[in-house]
Amino acid sequence: MSDSANFPPRGLFLVIEGIDGTGKSTQAQRLAEWLRERGRGVVTSREPTDGPWGRKLRESAATGRLSPEDELEYFLRDRRQHVEEVIAPALAAGKVVILDRYYFSTMAYQGARGFDPAEIRRRNEEFAPVPDLLLVLDLEVDAALERIGARGDTANEFEKRDSLQKCREVFLSLAGEAFVRVISTNGTPDEVGAAIREAVGGVL
Ligand code: TYD
Repeated sequence: MSDSANFPPRGLFLVIEGIDGTGKSTQAQRLAEWLRERGRGVVTSREPTDGPWGRKLRESAATGRLSPEDELEYFLRDRRQHVEEVIAPALAAGKVVILDRYYFSTMAYQGARGFDPAEIRRRNEEFAPVPDLLLVLDLEVDAALERIGARGDTANEFEKRDSLQKCREVFLSLAGEAFVRVISTNGTPDEVGAAIREAVGGVL
């Protein structure tokens, strides 16, 4: 893209998504380092955030889950604040923003709790900017469960398997869109990193 087409200055918005166990946070850090070595100003962040709504969501994971409605509402509030305070200002300052999870996780996880993913997307895109590139890190659910140390044989883990399967389907349903790349995480972290850098190289 030429400078004039990119005016006013706007950074690059990269989002990494995928079910638990796909190595998102490791790859987000590696990608940030790679871009910094190339002289780019990089802001990394994650959702849920460490802000008040994000903290409530993380606490609820330990103390008992919120109702589906409250949980969805808290994710939306957390994200609204994240966009206003972190994402939009960094993009306006011309930075590369790398997020570990964003509203596609809400489509997937709250979708798995019974909400319509398309409706969740619509509500988010009213206030949350669409990324320039969405990297979906993909892995079969059984392999993902193994990586996070769950064998899937207790009732709880069986439920988790079922829910991650639905999440994976929602992530994969995005595959045809122009800004989305699905990256298999069957390979080594180095191989996954190389595939990510190749995809990001295409939008730099
Ligand atoms: P994550 O940061 O990946 O977990 P941790 O750091 O504890 O390993 O995400 C926390 C959980 O929040 C994860 O199971 C996915 C879930 N989540 C949603 O349900 N909806 C959302 O919108 C987001 C961003 C995350």
